[in-house]
Amino acid sequence: MNKRRDTTGSFVRFPVGFLWGAATSAHQVEGGNRFNDWWAAEQAGDLPFRSADACRHFELYESDFDLAESIGHNCHRFSIEWSRVQPSIDTWNDSALEHYAQVIQSLKAHGMEPVVTLHHFTNPAWFAARGGWEHQGAPEAFANYVSRVIDRLGDDVRYWLTVNEPTVYALQGYINGVWPPFAKSAWARAARVTRALARGHVTAYETIKARCPKSRVSFAHNALHMEPCNAGRLRDRIAAHCRDWIYNELFFKLIRIAGKPKLDFVALNYYTRCSVRSQGMGLKALLGTACKLEHHSGQGMRGTMGWEAYPRGLGLIAKRFAGLGLPLFITENGFATDDDEERRQFLRAHLRELANLVEAGIPVLGYLHWSLLDNYEWASGTLPRFGLAETNFTTQERRVRDSAGDFASVCRDNRVQL
Ligand code: BGC
Repeated sequence: MNKRRDTTGSFVRFPVGFLWGAATSAHQVEGGNRFNDWWAAEQAGDLPFRSADACRHFELYESDFDLAESIGHNCHRFSIEWSRVQPSIDTWNDSALEHYAQVIQSLKAHGMEPVVTLHHFTNPAWFAARGGWEHQGAPEAFANYVSRVIDRLGDDVRYWLTVNEPTVYALQGYINGVWPPFAKSAWARAARVTRALARGHVTAYETIKARCPKSRVSFAHNALHMEPCNAGRLRDRIAAHCRDWIYNELFFKLIRIAGKPKLDFVALNYYTRCSVRSQGMGLKALLGTACKLEHHSGQGMRGTMGWEAYPRGLGLIAKRFAGLGLPLFITENGFATDDDEERRQFLRAHLRELANLVEAGIPVLGYLHWSLLDNYEWASGTLPRFGLAETNFTTQERRVRDSAGDFASVCRDNRVQL
């Protein structure tokens, strides 16, 4: 029997020190992030929902960490809001950095390892106004901010994520046009932004490592498992391959220096798969479209976002990225639903996949569920419920869901039932 199985053979024991917890991001939970581009677009009516107070986590972080500790977490991912640290091009707000220093101390006092994201979709309004990531000085501006953060917080944090999901950022903001700056089908602009984010990552990586050589740095990749809608159709296979290359490979190529990606571990945010169908001519044919029909093998339930739960994809994606020869870290995985029983099933199935990976000897550092709390789900507002705890957005009360209780046993016992 594999050495990770317990004596009954039905549990997989995880490595000592495995990191279990949940993830959040500043704009989605803090509330009152009035100096960033999302806030500006929300006030201008360019987005259907406003973040407003969100979960008021900026003030309530202590009690939110009490909650996370009470459900067994030993790790927590959050993001620093750049626009709080640098509200205008020539203003640095040291009290914002002090706030995040306290957040980190509080996490440690609650027995949780901090994983800190430096950029999670939002930009300071001044940065966006001068062209955002299309401005030629964007990577340097980001590096300046990162330097400030590292000077103050570098000694207290081991795990850093420079940028969250650069591919999603470029896609939603420059091709789908549903997030600031709302550019539609602007491939040339999306390409420029992606290159700038890659430079931003590399400079941030170097800045962090120069000051804190023992830190472990990565970016969070939204890993979308691509497959042809109809595997018997050559066009679908080609489209799935091209889409996969752009979505899952390109950024890793752009951050290579001397043939190797500048990463200490591979951070994967995994949610779902995409069945690719090639239609029409030109780019549409080459990249295909996502087939929404429910006729694919192994079809799983769909949540509020319309995303299919496809646990097998976690294993497939993880095995593939393990090929980079670096440890993996699942930095997001979750399911939006109003039915907690569905979340429970989602968790159970995905944790089983994770257990299979660990049992197969694939090095995985941790698993973070998205999210600790129901929060501001970007252009979908507070309708999708991703939280292990329910948020009442009127009273700001939290209620731990039953699924969080199941997950708590996994976190505490450091083992998963097969
Ligand atoms: C993002 C989160 C988002 C989640 C669910 C991830 O792609 O990093 O900010 O809330 O997906 O949509």
